[in-house]
Amino acid sequence: MTRITVTVNGAREETAVEAHESLLTTLRERLGLPGSKNACEQGECGSCSVLLDDVLVCACLVLAASVDGREVRTVESLADGSALDPVQRAFVETGAVQCGFCTPGLVVATHALLRENPEPSLAEIREALSGNLCRCTGYGQIVEAVQRAAKTMYLHGLDDE
Ligand code: FES
Ligand code: FES
Repeated sequence: MTRITVTVNGAREETAVEAHESLLTTLRERLGLPGSKNACEQGECGSCSVLLDDVLVCACLVLAASVDGREVRTVESLADGSALDPVQRAFVETGAVQCGFCTPGLVVATHALLRENPEPSLAEIREALSGNLCRCTGYGQIVEAVQRAAKTMYLHGLDDE
């Protein structure tokens, strides 16, 4: 086991991790943060997307031992109690959530996109979300959700906390 210290959603966490353990396992099983989902565990679906030092990554592909001293943000950082953040709200309002398994990753990926590009084109949205698979909604409503979130955040200022 290796001991690591990592800042997760603004809080400093210390934990022991196995040498082969993924960041996704650490978040879900050691730190009690099940929002990032485990669907493929192979970097194929994006359901485990988190921000590592503000860069979008698949947590299933990141070795937990490698995040020592770094900063992670998960989907749990977005809502304020029961108040959804603008991206989460847009996903609900457009019907982009069915089983919801892909949703946390899509929401985190949308934040990553809108922080870089507050007014993305349709092609830029599709490109940015190309690593996030959804088996339920067919992507039309997901793209609509991103456009709606972009509009809301553009009007009210980008809320990335
Ligand atoms: S669970 Fe990580 S990409 Fe699918
Ligand atoms: S809502 Fe079911 S996988 Fe996307």
